Amino acid sequence: MIGTGRTAMGIVQFAEPGPGDVVLVPAAAGGLGTLLVQYAKNAGATVVGLAGGPAKTARVAANGADLAVDYTDPGWPARLDDHRGKVTVVYDGVGGDVARAAVALLAPDGRHIVFGWTSQGLAGDSPYVVDGVSVNVLGPEMLRRAGGPDPLRTLELRALTEAAEGRLTPAVQRFPLAGAAEAHRALESRGTTGKVVLEP
Ligand SMILES: NC(=O)c1ccc[n+]([C@@H]2O[C@H](COP(=O)([O-])OP(=O)(O)OC[C@H]3O[C@@H](n4cnc5c(N)ncnc54)[C@H](OP(=O)(O)O)[C@@H]3O)[C@@H](O)[C@H]2O)c1
Repeated sequence: MIGTGRTAMGIVQFAEPGPGDVVLVPAAAGGLGTLLVQYAKNAGATVVGLAGGPAKTARVAANGADLAVDYTDPGWPARLDDHRGKVTVVYDGVGGDVARAAVALLAPDGRHIVFGWTSQGLAGDSPYVVDGVSVNVLGPEMLRRAGGPDPLRTLELRALTEAAEGRLTPAVQRFPLAGAAEAHRALESRGTTGKVVLEP
């Protein structure tokens, strides 16, 4: 919770969700995605989670998303036709083609909050960003916004307070330390949900 929760709190500083927002979360069954879905729902937003495959979309729905869409289905953007032009925030750690399709769903004043690019596409592709729409939040500005003498600690305390008060619950998938290779294979094949933890 400390590392991933801290990052989640750093991300939402750039686009605080609230009632009236429609928030799109790619990789919504991942470690960060799970927390971002919960956070946006708690804030009163309508939340759409994207994830790879039916098992993951079932988890995203159980985690509170209003709509969970399998974006391994090539026709997935059509499932969001009702939301086209209404998405106000995309919390995007995937990049590439997914980002391109997500940005196409944005409202005119919508924001594309970029914090990673797990699936930017073929080697050499750049993550998809659009001037004036996309904000890459990983960097000193995240710390500046967090404020305080120790900004990382500020974000950690926010995350831990959210968890202690029952608003954020991390998702964790455990592997034995001796099975680290299997854990890596599962990560590479997108077979994991939540954070992957190796246990001694
Ligand atoms: N955790 C942190 O504190 C932190 C800090 C800074 C940056 N980030 C960035 O935030 C993003 C998400 O991090 P996370 O901790 O939530 O990771 P995670 O739990 O491992 O989730 C990543 C998810 O990305 C999706 N994905 C899409 N394309 C993929 C591909 N080609 N290979 C593997 N996975 C792919 C997978 O979900 P589907 O199968 O559903 O698509 C996967 O579950 C990453 O880009 C990471 O670098 C994380």
